[in-house]
Formats: sequence, C-alpha cells, structure tokens
Amino acid sequence: MLGDDRVSSAYAHNADFWISIIRDKLDSYQTLLTDPALLEVIGDCSGLHILDAGCGEGYLARELVGRGAAHVYGVDTCEQFIVAARSHPDFHSGTSTFDHADVANLPLADHSVDLVVANRLPNGIADPGRRFHEFARVLQPSGRLIVLSMHPCFYGDRAERVSATSADLSVDSYFGVRSVEQNFNVAGRVSPMPSVQRFFSLEAYIGMITTAGFAVTGLREPHPTPEQREQNPWWNQNFVRPLFLMLECRLS
Ligand SMILES: C[S@@+](CC[C@H](N)C(=O)[O-])C[C@H]1O[C@@H](n2cnc3c(N)ncnc32)[C@H](O)[C@@H]1O
Repeated sequence: MLGDDRVSSAYAHNADFWISIIRDKLDSYQTLLTDPALLEVIGDCSGLHILDAGCGEGYLARELVGRGAAHVYGVDTCEQFIVAARSHPDFHSGTSTFDHADVANLPLADHSVDLVVANRLPNGIADPGRRFHEFARVLQPSGRLIVLSMHPCFYGDRAERVSATSADLSVDSYFGVRSVEQNFNVAGRVSPMPSVQRFFSLEAYIGMITTAGFAVTGLREPHPTPEQREQNPWWNQNFVRPLFLMLECRLS
C-alpha cells in the first residue's frame, strides 16, 4: 500500500463515500469556504502546468482545466480515486493526467510545474517533510506551492462542534504527533471507516516547509463571513473554532 498505511487504508475503505460527498456537493466547508478561498489564491491559472497533490477523485483538477490550465497532474495514493478521476466524463488525457503515486515520490521531472496545490492532503507519519522536498524539486524556480490543511492549532476530534471539549489540546499533545480518528457525518451520510489524520505543531509544520526551501508568502484561515452566518445559522453550530489553514509558499 502506498503512503502512510493507516491513512491510506482509511481512504481505500471510504473511497465511495468521499466520491459521493464530492460529486453531490454535500460538504459545505469545502463548497462554501475552502474552495472559494483556494481558487481566489490560485488566481489566474491559464496556461499553467499544475500538480494536484492528493487529488482525490479529481474535482479540483477538472475545475482548474476548466479555468484554462495547460495541464493538471493529479497524484493520489488511493487507487479507487484515480480510477474515478480517469473515468469521469469530463476527463481528457490531453489536459490532465491521474497517477497512482505517493506525493513523497512524484512521477514528474524536476522544475516541470508552475504551481503545486495540496488541497486537504493529510500529513503522513513515515517521513512527513519528504513531500515538501518533492514539491520543491518539481516546481519551476518562480512557482508557488499552496497548501490547504486542517488547522494544526485548533483541529481535534469533532472540532467543528460547540460541545467539542476534546478539541482543547494539551501542550504535550500539541507538541507531539497527534492523530485524529473519526467517522465523518456529512449531511447525514456517515463514512464506513474512521478517517485518520496526523497533526504536527505549527512550528514543526512550518519547519518542514522552510527546510525544503520554501518561504511562506501568504496565510489564510478560511472561515464564514458575518453575512454567511446571518444567512445560515448552521455555521454558528458547525464552525466554532478555526478549522482550516491555507499557506502560500514560494521557493526562497
Ligand atoms: C481529504 S482527501 C482530499 C482529496 C482532494 N484533494 C479533495 O480535496 O477532494 C486527501 C487525499 O490525499 C490522499 N493522500 C493521502 N496521503 C497521500 C500521499 N502520501 N500521497 C498522495 N496522496 C495521498 C488520500 O488518498 C486522499 O485522496
């Protein structure tokens, strides 16, 4: 099995669940918060060669091709996602490629892409900094890396909920490597297996990025606007602490 065993095994068992959540547009965090923020930071992508690192079933790759990207290379350790991405009706081999591979060992030449996007790519455990070295290797010198992750400082078990006391991290837990394992319930659909996510402290996480040769040039924490909260009180129950961290990085 490619990647971190426990993470990969969870995705293999939950693949149909995640494909249905994405394709039925059920995840409001993704459709209303993180996707708009990500696409805004990506900006004009026409003519770019882009790596979608941990591409899942390929929705972001399709979106970027639709916005004029020259080619999007999707890579994922979950074979079912790669099969789903390749069999999507909008898949065209001239503008996108989907490979079953680990982001720590990319099937791409040096300096071959203009932009690397890691959209909700979970942290691995075996050699967690290795991926950032690979991203630096495949990027053009003037290229960008954009990483959207769950927030390392605040995310915990059921962190989105008001009642989640376990999201309060102890110092030992925060500065160690912590795992969050939970079944997801998205709009009433429950994942068959718990998802496994690994977290490092912000210091350790940024250290992996800068050690690989990047400087952090932008930071956002996608969250609902006051207007979104007013229009839909669902947010008041389901976004009670910062859940996401998005970093824009350039080679230094
Ligand atoms: C939360 S999903 C996000 C998928 C997609 N980017 C999206 O936003 O829908 C995380 C993805 O990362 C993949 N993944 C986990 N570890 C990986 C690794 N080391 N290399 C490549 N993909 C990995 C998983 O299989 C899964 O598809």
